[in-house]
Amino acid sequence: SPSDPDLVERARKAKEKLGDKVFVLGHHYQRDEVIQFADVTGDSFKLARDAAARPEAEYIVFCGVHFMAESADILTSDDQKVVLPDLAAGCSMADMATAEQVAECWDVLTEAGIAEQVVPVSYMNSSADIKAFTGKHGGTICTSSNAKRALDWAFEQGEKVLFLPDQHLGRNTAVRDMGMSLDDCVVYNPHKPNGGLTADELRAAKMILWRGHCSVHGRFSLDSVNDVRERIPGVNVLVHPECKHEVVAAADYVGSTEYIIKALEAAPAGSKWAIGTELNLVRRLANRFAPEGKEIVFLDKTVCFCSTMNRIDLPHLVWALESLAEGNLVNRIEVDKETEAFAKLALERMLALPS
Ligand code: 13P
Ligand code: SF4
Repeated sequence: SPSDPDLVERARKAKEKLGDKVFVLGHHYQRDEVIQFADVTGDSFKLARDAAARPEAEYIVFCGVHFMAESADILTSDDQKVVLPDLAAGCSMADMATAEQVAECWDVLTEAGIAEQVVPVSYMNSSADIKAFTGKHGGTICTSSNAKRALDWAFEQGEKVLFLPDQHLGRNTAVRDMGMSLDDCVVYNPHKPNGGLTADELRAAKMILWRGHCSVHGRFSLDSVNDVRERIPGVNVLVHPECKHEVVAAADYVGSTEYIIKALEAAPAGSKWAIGTELNLVRRLANRFAPEGKEIVFLDKTVCFCSTMNRIDLPHLVWALESLAEGNLVNRIEVDKETEAFAKLALERMLALPS
């Protein structure tokens, strides 16, 4: 839907007034009305790097979700302020692993006598507390674009990985990219005593997967893949690795949002694609590539937007920018110093992974 011209003008004016003092980051899943004001767009890895590369900007306005804004705060200097236009823009996956639950899990691993062999690898989509836990225990952060490199690194440090909080990204990377079998993976359920696992099961596992998932990507099914292949002969199925293993196994290509965009840029005219990721991005890509004769459809019409990503809309962005332009710092995301120090360790290990 076209954005309200009045709000567009207000956002433009406020941004102009702020000049170099403000830097607006937009995740690929953001609405078009918001993306048009982003100084840079990207996947979570690119945005983490880009946030750190703008030391002159006093305000980083993060159009994305809470964990991304936290990561930006951790990676930027103390006098830079990170602003999330709507504080309710969280992530249900990140909420599936709390600091208490993860501490309890570590106790279970210690009881089983394996904690010293375990290296935690946490997906970017986690709270700063979980990142700090990861840093404290010698682990690294990963995103969907470097999960294999993070796991390669982790298995050089130890024999087992505790992968938090997305079981699907963990399993897909282990099985698809690292040659492990499904039997090498166990799922730790934080809602069950001892994670629902015996000490023997923990000792036998190579990958201990936290029982978390993305509520958007988790809804694509094997049926969605089979249906689209039937409907559109010759279609290329391209999905995000947050999808379930059976979906990823049935797809032709798998990758992060940035990978998806590059794959479509390189696709020949006349090719057909079904994309399994967030709807704002798929629609934008469908519109962008239609004139080049690339047919792009959404993998499953019953799946919809990421509701928390969508909370950042033009009214919230205008409010944040106008407030900043008037000298009112609103919706600042600030991670406390101790958490920040350990979380930064884990994030910097990720940034140092070979690319
Ligand atoms: P990427 O942008 O890293 O592909 O992550 C997808 C996602 O779910 C972000 O919330
Ligand atoms: Fe979280 Fe999934 Fe939304 Fe990404 S798409 S912010 S993982 S709920």
